[in-house]
Amino acid sequence: MRFELSGITAGYGDTVVLRDVDLVVPGGTIVALLGPNGAGKTTLLRVASGLLRPRKGEIAVDGEDFTGAHAEVLAKAGICHVTEGRSVFPGMTVRENLRMFGAKGQESEAQERAVSAFPKLGQRLSQVAGTMSGGEQQMLALSRAYAQRAPIVMLDEVSMGLAPIVVDEIFEFFHRLVAEGSSLLLVEQYVAKALDIATNVYVLARGRVVFRGEPAELAGTDLMERYLGTETGHQGAAVGEEPAAPTPAVAAKRVPAKRAAARQTSAKKATSRKAAAKKAAPKRAAAKRTPAR
Ligand SMILES: Nc1ncnc2c1ncn2[C@@H]1O[C@H](COP(=O)(O)OP(=O)(O)OP(=O)(O)O)[C@@H](O)[C@H]1O
Ligand SMILES: [Mg+2]
Repeated sequence: MRFELSGITAGYGDTVVLRDVDLVVPGGTIVALLGPNGAGKTTLLRVASGLLRPRKGEIAVDGEDFTGAHAEVLAKAGICHVTEGRSVFPGMTVRENLRMFGAKGQESEAQERAVSAFPKLGQRLSQVAGTMSGGEQQMLALSRAYAQRAPIVMLDEVSMGLAPIVVDEIFEFFHRLVAEGSSLLLVEQYVAKALDIATNVYVLARGRVVFRGEPAELAGTDLMERYLGTETGHQGAAVGEEPAAPTPAVAAKRVPAKRAAARQTSAKKATSRKAAAKKAAPKRAAAKRTPAR
C-alpha cells in the first residue's frame, strides 16, 4: 500500500503549522519523520490520520483520494495512528482493551496476535490497563497496530520516557510489523536508532520539509547537527558531529529551508514532561554512525 500526502498546509486557528508538505510512505518501508520540537511532526500525523483537516493538499491511499475523510474512514482504509502518550483505555482491563482492537467476530484473533507480539500482555489480561507500567501500557497501545494488521502504521514518539530495554523491545516490534507487511511512518526521539532502521527519512523544520532522502545521505549533511542534534537536545544523536560537506546528490535532495534554520531556537517548545523524558534518554542509545560518504 502506498500512502501519499501532497502539498499539505495545516494549522490551528490562525496559526499555520505545516506549509506545503509532501510525504510518501511506499509499501514495505520504514519512513522516519524527524525534526526539532514544534516542527509540526505530530500535526502532520494528525492530518494523515484524519484527526486534523488540512487547509490545502491531498491525502491518497493507493492513489485513491481520502482528503477530508474522517479518522474512522482512514482507519478502515488501513491507516493506524499510535498517538503521543499511551493510547489505551486506562479504566478497562487489558483483555477489554484488546477486544476493542478486533473487528466484530475477530476479537479473539486480535487478542492472540497482540499477545504473540508482547507475551507479557498475556499475563496481564485481567489487570486494569491504567495500573500497568508505562512500558506495558505502550506495548498494549502498540499491539493494536499488529492485531489489526494495519498496512500503514504511524508511530508518534512511542519510545518516549521508557527504559532502554523496553525501547529495544519496541524497536524489535517495529521489525516484526514490517515483516508482516506493514509500512511505518516513524516519529522518534532516538534519532540514530530510527535512522538505522529507516528506508527513507524526512526532516521537518518549522513546518517545512528541509530534507528527504536515504538515512546515509542525511549523515553526510550538517542537518543532523542543525536540526537533530543539539537543537533538539538529543545529544545522543550526534550522527553529524563532524559533518562532511554535502555531496552534490545530497545537496540536490535538500529542500530550501530559507529562514527555518535561523529561527530554530524559537521553535523549541518542549513541555517540561517531554524535556525531562528526553533528558532521561540514554546517550549511548544513539551510537555514532559513520557517514556513508
Ligand atoms: N492544538 C493546538 N493548538 C494550537 N497550536 C498547536 C496545537 N498543537 C500543536 N500546536 C502548535 O503547532 C506547532 C507544531 O506542534 P507539533 O506538536 O506538531 O510539533 P512536533 O514536531 O510534534 O513537536 P515535538 O517534537 O515537541 O512533539 C507548535 O508550535 C505547537 O505549539
Ligand atoms: Mg510531537
